[in-house]
Amino acid sequence: MSTTTSKTVSADGGQTLSTLRNLWPYMWPAGRPDLRARVVWATFFLVLAKLLTVGIPYFYKWATDALDGTNSALTVLPLVLTGAITLVIAYNVARILSVALNQLRDALFASVGQHAVRRLAFRTFNHMHALSLRFHLERRTGGLSRIIERGTKGIETIVRFTILNSIPTVLEFALTAAIFGFAYGLSYLVVIAVTVGVYSWFTIKASDWRIGIRREMNDSDTEANTKAIDSLLNFETVKYFGNEAMEAERFDRSMARYEKAATQTWTSLGWLNFGQGVIFSIGMGVTMVMSAREVQAGTQTLGDFVFINAMLMQLSIPLNFIGFIYREIRQGLTDIEEMFGLLEVEEEVRDRPGAVSLRVTEGAIRFEDVRFSYDPAREILKGISFEVPPGKSVAIVGPSGAGKSTISRLLFRFYDVSAGRILIDGQDIATVTQASVRAAIGIVPQDTVLFNDTIAYNVRYGRIDASDEEMRRAAELAQIAGFIDILPDGFATMVGERGLKLSGGEKQRVAIARTILKAPPILILDEATSALDTHTEQEIQSALDLVSKERTTLTIAHRLSTIIDADEIIVLRAGQIVERGTHRELLEESGLYAEMWRMQREATEAEETLRRARAADELGVIERRRTDPVA
Ligand SMILES: Nc1ncnc2c1ncn2[C@@H]1O[C@H](COP(=O)(O)OP(=O)(O)O)[C@@H](O)[C@H]1O
Ligand SMILES: [Mg+2]
Repeated sequence: MSTTTSKTVSADGGQTLSTLRNLWPYMWPAGRPDLRARVVWATFFLVLAKLLTVGIPYFYKWATDALDGTNSALTVLPLVLTGAITLVIAYNVARILSVALNQLRDALFASVGQHAVRRLAFRTFNHMHALSLRFHLERRTGGLSRIIERGTKGIETIVRFTILNSIPTVLEFALTAAIFGFAYGLSYLVVIAVTVGVYSWFTIKASDWRIGIRREMNDSDTEANTKAIDSLLNFETVKYFGNEAMEAERFDRSMARYEKAATQTWTSLGWLNFGQGVIFSIGMGVTMVMSAREVQAGTQTLGDFVFINAMLMQLSIPLNFIGFIYREIRQGLTDIEEMFGLLEVEEEVRDRPGAVSLRVTEGAIRFEDVRFSYDPAREILKGISFEVPPGKSVAIVGPSGAGKSTISRLLFRFYDVSAGRILIDGQDIATVTQASVRAAIGIVPQDTVLFNDTIAYNVRYGRIDASDEEMRRAAELAQIAGFIDILPDGFATMVGERGLKLSGGEKQRVAIARTILKAPPILILDEATSALDTHTEQEIQSALDLVSKERTTLTIAHRLSTIIDADEIIVLRAGQIVERGTHRELLEESGLYAEMWRMQREATEAEETLRRARAADELGVIERRRTDPVA
């Protein structure tokens, strides 16, 4: 992923401009006059603070001149205003005011910036959900969340630094330059302009170099984070194979990359700061020597010397910021670009313009010559046609990888078909809204993943506004209420990340309960019981039978014994329907289905014999124990 990330991040100005343009509506939010008023006020205080800042060295100069006895410039004013002490106090009051105005500006702007962060985070989050399953299967969640995290932080940076720092800094340079040129002549103006120019050039060059290092640091950070999350998500698998050392080593390798880049970030910062210091000190040294000679010659007062020094010291603050601002803005822009890059990823499955809601009358499903491929090079479904009449049940069986789950994903419209049509009650699902299609279908998947919250939350997920009684009733129907009652915390029990604290059967029953709450007219059971043992399967089967009664049901089954009663059984192999009919008809055909049936029978019988043999064995042991006390 790191390569694609770097590709979307370019250094050219066009990209930067478009990022700023993208950001503008968030800085100047339409429909929020209160926030706009804040922007205006903040700008006002900003200009005021800068004017004051530039004026401060004047008080310093006047105070010095007053102490020195050269009161020339201010003789027109009454003496009480021009006394050295008054001027010193004025100097300090001005400094306080300047700080106060700056803080006022920041405080006013904070809510604008935070509002922008929230709105963009909201938009990105929604967009993530609108993107296709394909996108999410290809992306790594850990890396994705980092991009969003950095992006939102980037917005804060941009808001703070462009508006609150760059503009005032430019203003301050202009004012300072004007004062120097006007009061002390062209030579001073030239020295200062050259210093600022060289300083900025050096800073930008050095920062560009550092940004490359920073990017390497970010990429390795993302990579390490992704690896850590993936490894922890596979906690059990890691243990099964005893691969902790290998996982740790893989993580450490990414961290080593990060370590190198992060160290370089710091050492390069050292070089940058040093270079800046040298350039500025030379410039300042030259002006001070020029001024000192004029004081010696009597063309400048001591106050002028102090003033020039103070003015330059003051200029060094925003200059120092130039590098920082440039770095932060570039970094912020990079991060935001990454996030906007995500926002620009097109939704693969879209509602057509003017799409209406699906109207479910009876819940009939119809596949018409459906073709589909995840990857154009390999077709998964090769012309599938079948029908599930209202309230009936159709089962799909077939070897693993035949495309059974793909059929359920297409029905949910996670993907659009490449040819053919899927109809629900005569309406092509590609022409109606996705939300209405999904609302009409309930699914109990093979592996249920639960939210890391309470059982109640997970059951209620089927219908958020269900009452406690309805939730309990659903749990009873799914035959999990008994289990929940013996838990110390009952419905308030936390299920752990992805529901890991529940067994497969329990998780599956939670999934059934929430589907019962949803009460959809169409139901898909995708190998809902295949992960469970025969005993649990039988228990759950009755719950499933209850749910699927009166509902159009598509059952994808692994264990054939569960679908004997289906109205039609479709045998799928390599994306094609090879047999279809009822259980009895298919057995008579003695094709693939009959073969699968025979093999499963044998397996079950073998299992059964083994179980019986074990039971007999145990009985024998007990018998022997009873007759022979020594054993
Ligand atoms: N997101 C995907 N991208 C590419 N190939 C996929 C994807 N999902 C499934 N496949 C492939 O499609 C085929 C059918 O998958 P699936 O419908 O899940 O099979 P099953 O019949 O076992 O449910 C498999 O060979 C699988 O490797
Ligand atoms: Mg499957």
